[in-house]
Amino acid sequence: MSTWTLTGATTEYTVAARGDRLDLVTWGPIGVSDGPSPYDFHGRVQYMLPGDVAATEYLPDGLRPFLGADLSVAGQGLTWRLLSVTEDDGLTATLADDVTGIEVELRWRFAAGTDVLERWATVSNRGDETVEITRLGSAAFCVPTPAGATLHYLHGQWAQEFTTGSTTLVRGRFEIGSAQGVTGHQFSPYLAVDNGDAMYGFQLAWTGSWSITADVDAAGLTRVRAGRDGLVRLAPGSAVTTPIALGVYAGDDLARHWHAYEQALAGERLSTAGRVIYNSWEATTFDVTAAGQLALADVAAGLGVETFVVDDGWFVGRHDDTGGLGDWTPDPAKFPDGFDAFVAAIRGRGLEFGLWVEPEMVNPKSALYAAHPEWVYQDSGRPRSTIRNQYLLNLGLDEVYEFVRDTLDRLLTDYPIGYLKWDFNRPRTEADRSAADLDGAHVRNLYRLLDHLRAAHPSVIVEGCAAGGARADIAMAARTDVLWPSDNTAPLDRLRIQHGFLSAHAPHLMSSWVTDAPGMFDPRPRSLAFRFVLASAGVLGIGADIARWSAEEREQAAAWVARYKQVRDVILHGSVHRIGSPDQARCAVQYSLGDRVVVLAWNPAGLDGSGGVPARDVRLPLRDLPPNARYRRVGTRISTGAVAARPYPGLTGQDTGGHGGGFEASGRHLTSVGLPVRWTAVYDADLFELERL
Ligand code: DGJ
Repeated sequence: MSTWTLTGATTEYTVAARGDRLDLVTWGPIGVSDGPSPYDFHGRVQYMLPGDVAATEYLPDGLRPFLGADLSVAGQGLTWRLLSVTEDDGLTATLADDVTGIEVELRWRFAAGTDVLERWATVSNRGDETVEITRLGSAAFCVPTPAGATLHYLHGQWAQEFTTGSTTLVRGRFEIGSAQGVTGHQFSPYLAVDNGDAMYGFQLAWTGSWSITADVDAAGLTRVRAGRDGLVRLAPGSAVTTPIALGVYAGDDLARHWHAYEQALAGERLSTAGRVIYNSWEATTFDVTAAGQLALADVAAGLGVETFVVDDGWFVGRHDDTGGLGDWTPDPAKFPDGFDAFVAAIRGRGLEFGLWVEPEMVNPKSALYAAHPEWVYQDSGRPRSTIRNQYLLNLGLDEVYEFVRDTLDRLLTDYPIGYLKWDFNRPRTEADRSAADLDGAHVRNLYRLLDHLRAAHPSVIVEGCAAGGARADIAMAARTDVLWPSDNTAPLDRLRIQHGFLSAHAPHLMSSWVTDAPGMFDPRPRSLAFRFVLASAGVLGIGADIARWSAEEREQAAAWVARYKQVRDVILHGSVHRIGSPDQARCAVQYSLGDRVVVLAWNPAGLDGSGGVPARDVRLPLRDLPPNARYRRVGTRISTGAVAARPYPGLTGQDTGGHGGGFEASGRHLTSVGLPVRWTAVYDADLFELERL
């Protein structure tokens, strides 16, 4: 039996050839293969095939007919002959079905310096007939689950993205996915499996329709399959490469592996991440005027904002969401002195200029639609649906790709734009179902465009957005600088959304705005401090109507922006440890970079009569501090902007006081007992920077 071991930063993955099957032998910390495989099974295979039971890497339904195959072709039950296995920067294996002439090249590779295993497949048709691939998996990953599997996933809908969910599965199939031609609001292409001993994580780097399934079998194995959803037709001589599926063995801190992977994807660009932005959407919506935006820019500059982003509403025909999309020319009525002069005026205030676009879309009420109705997706002459009054352009067409590329090139060349927010506000509905690879054509051209932007306009920061977080996945993380997780900026909801986002994605990708209280979503009051600490958990932005802010609010805001700038390298480049959750009395995030530690903490709960009754401090147990090192808080507390409660009449007893906010403690104390916080009505969130003495 030949075996091959791939080695990542701290973990290894061993596969073996068993006849024509490639089976997983071990996956875990380096050295884990020194012992009997937890994937081998004993006993007889009854009423099914060995492929239904074995921990095999990639199987068609001729070999795994009953419990879920990774590759299915209409009208054929493919089987494999193993042709070759080669070690390169990872492992490459080729397998073939002799009847159809389908050949598959499988690839495995640990992403450099990480424990994230990248896997994908190229399926080639070397036969004479077109084949219809009905299931195109990228990979299957096996997890030993002799004691059952707990699955963790991220679900939602618009305004509720990245909600964490979990379920314990004793037997059967769990499936999440999207059939919308886009990643979608409903689920993130993310799954974690906890077998009681370790966490295993999975993601799919794909921005079209997708599916992730977990099959828990009767023999103690969970098989996670990640891949595309939807039909692909493969003509003779053609091939399709699947998206990359990622798997990681994580012990107990899965999110850190994803963050390290995404930080590596960002590479050099990470050094420019985290510029503080102002975005005008919530303040002005479609009512964009030069004067209104400049009034906001005046205040933004004073707060320490670095980039001013004009959102939707700046182009001709865009007075509301019924018109304009497709006609990407600044509206002269809104910018009477010209757009050049407007952009210069923004930049003259010391701000970089940013612009919102939604270039894959068109409104029926637009010059573009009048000129090119045939660019819109349609199913054989049937009616087309509008969503948010707009159609989706078929970006898979060369002429649409060129139109979008030229539009963006023109805007980025004509004006000194440093930041582009790329939105996408509707999924695909009707489409020509006879197309060979509908999703593939659109998604690949999207990637080509994003890659083009990086090559042709390298200094432009690109924010990915899709009606909130409907296009947030690892493939987008690889091609954009930052992602907009949700339109919901209500503090308590956002706390939950961000907590979920950080399960899968790194802080440098998490765009977050301080918005007004009451805002568009939630009237429950939270202090300005709460909202600033919350938005500081990733890339800080402000989306409030700051022209209306009082002098006191502006002063506090400027202090928070300055504080963020002092610690943003720790937040964006460090490692993350989430403490508690938004549903618990304690909720915080610790960021560590070398000796530097920053903790953002919020009170998501009530006050329970705080101050009027006996209580103990909330404690936030930190991680990874040398036990004997000593720490103290640096920097002063910024006033929170919260309103104090009226004193309750006739309370007896004495306030017994306590540590009073300042403290010094050892690493051992902070990791085992925790950082103390005492929330009150006027103190509901804070940013702690700890200094090692
Ligand atoms: C949806 C986005 O998520 C919002 O941030 C905003 O850009 C609007 N679209 C504008 O139409």
